[in-house]
Amino acid sequence: MRTFTKTYADPGAQQQALAHHRWIARVNPDVRIPEVIQVIPSAIDFEHIDGRHGGPDDLATLAALLGHQHTNAYTRELHTARLNAPHTSDGITIAGFADDRRERLHQLLASGAVPGPALTRDAIDGWLERAATMPAAFYKDANPRNFLITGADVTVIDFDSLTLAPFGYDLAKLVVSTAMTTGSLPEGTIRQALDAYNHHPRSRGLPGCPWHEFAAWCEFHHALTAPYLGTNNYRFSWHTVRPAWTTDILRHFDKESAL
Ligand SMILES: Nc1ncnc2c1ncn2[C@@H]1O[C@H](COP(=O)(O)OP(=O)(O)OP(=O)(O)O)[C@@H](O)[C@H]1O
Ligand SMILES: [Mg+2]
Repeated sequence: MRTFTKTYADPGAQQQALAHHRWIARVNPDVRIPEVIQVIPSAIDFEHIDGRHGGPDDLATLAALLGHQHTNAYTRELHTARLNAPHTSDGITIAGFADDRRERLHQLLASGAVPGPALTRDAIDGWLERAATMPAAFYKDANPRNFLITGADVTVIDFDSLTLAPFGYDLAKLVVSTAMTTGSLPEGTIRQALDAYNHHPRSRGLPGCPWHEFAAWCEFHHALTAPYLGTNNYRFSWHTVRPAWTTDILRHFDKESAL
């Protein structure tokens, strides 16, 4: 079988990727992921998948896939998780949403590395607090390079990162990183993607991700992904391509919650 060898900086990162791969296989058994063929020192041989990366035309399909993954993970397991605490099951610990992220976001904002931020440090803390009581889904870094598409088949790859996250958070990563790759996206495309995503949690009675939460998670990704501008095919900063409604809705939400 043809393989794709991925090397890891240290044995800890390799072991984590293997644990994340096992966890995704368990909570999303009907989602295509490459098989692990062989584990070798500081590398993993995965089954080679022929396919292209995601792009703007794939957003609705990938959004529906993410909604399906997150809803199944919640129903099978994550309904017992608290979003801002680590979740351990079957020998795997998945980091909580707030901990490392809060520190990283504070650092990035303080250093001035985020162009045109739409959230202050206090607003970020407010969103992290609100997240504590939201139903738990996960973040697995849904950038468009972490999907391989062949015809109607989508394979999910890259098991390096996995944390708990609110519903909609990883979809926001997909939208922000796609816009950073190819430029601004039509409003209808984003709307369709969020609808396709929310169909899954809402058909199980879960709240899904409302617009204002989605706008906030886009700003989290803007801050966290800004340092990679100019690498990873990212040619556009989110603050130059973000739709105006995302920042309008956040301003409106801020005013309303101040009353
Ligand atoms: N199993 C696989 N079969 C074929 N190609 C693969 C496979 N796994 C990864 N790739 C290719 O290698 C690229 C990088 O892999 P991966 O995402 O795992 O690493 P990465 O360090 O996160 O890189 P990037 O920052 O580009 O996402 C993928 O976007 C894909 O094009
Ligand atoms: Mg990747």
